[in-house]
Amino acid sequence: MNNIKKYIIGIETSCDDTSIAILFENKLIDQMTISSIPEQQKYGGVVPELASRLHLKYIHKIFINLLSKNNIKLSEIKFIVYTKFPGLIGSLHVGILFATLLSKLLDVQAFGVDHIAGHIFSVFINKHKEEITFPFISLIVSGGTSTIYLVNSFNEYKEIMKSSDDSVGEVYDKVARALGWGYPGGPIIDKSYDESKTSIIFMKKRPIDADFSFSGLKTAVLNYINTKKMKNEQLDKIEIASSFQKTIIFDIKSKLEFYLKKYNIDVLGIGGGVSANSLLRKECLLITKKLFLPKKEYTGDNATMIAFYGYLMYNN
Ligand code: KG4
Repeated sequence: MNNIKKYIIGIETSCDDTSIAILFENKLIDQMTISSIPEQQKYGGVVPELASRLHLKYIHKIFINLLSKNNIKLSEIKFIVYTKFPGLIGSLHVGILFATLLSKLLDVQAFGVDHIAGHIFSVFINKHKEEITFPFISLIVSGGTSTIYLVNSFNEYKEIMKSSDDSVGEVYDKVARALGWGYPGGPIIDKSYDESKTSIIFMKKRPIDADFSFSGLKTAVLNYINTKKMKNEQLDKIEIASSFQKTIIFDIKSKLEFYLKKYNIDVLGIGGGVSANSLLRKECLLITKKLFLPKKEYTGDNATMIAFYGYLMYNN
């Protein structure tokens, strides 16, 4: 029994998290992630060169640690899935090379999957396959992506709208930085949200069928902060952050309502780092009861979603 090849290894290194997961069928055995955020914090964002170096430093240690902790032998590995795109080139290369070399040494298959597909289908991790009903609308919001997809099947997902400039996570991080709140800013702004302090108007309503565009909102918030500072006026940071969050989340919500109606679909999935946001989760539940959200541990970049999507591809 011990020598039966049964475990799936997932490898995710697209940005600043080195993550490896082990699945048995579609069930997670274990995942370990080392984030380079502590090292990146002093730069206020991700430095690609540093991210690649840290992937190199950690990837084999995580792999060996996971195997020994779970008493898994190399001979029990069935196949390997890795993130092939999109992402930082140097970071992706570390994962791709590690997976390819391992597959040659172990004589098992290794294949790359789209990181975005990992996020789209992360909403079904630990659920029964039958709960998945196609088609559905998927919103992926992270530090690099702000896109709405029409998902027809496990391997057919079509982009229907995306941000023409900054991504949602990027804007959260920049606003938090301007407030002196550190990196990553999304969770900090989320936690400090106060519904009773959302009166600042940063952005006029945009046409509902226009692409996402967040750079105007970012500039408006930064200008507001700078003007206050220049006039030596007191900054109500909670009011600025809460007004910003309400504006961006309600803009996203209105677009989702529009596309669900346009395609006559009532199933909505949301993934990516920003899908952890409490206001986004709360407001989207008001749009549809058929809302699928990943558990918070699968919202950011993680290898479980990569291994899970590999499992779906392998079996379909
Ligand atoms: O998917 P992800 O982990 O990786 C990248 O795309 O890099 O997303 C990270 C982004 C960051 O910009 C972070 O500030 C944002 O997700 N984020 C949040 C929340 N948690 C993470 N944004 C808003 N609210 C949150 N609770």
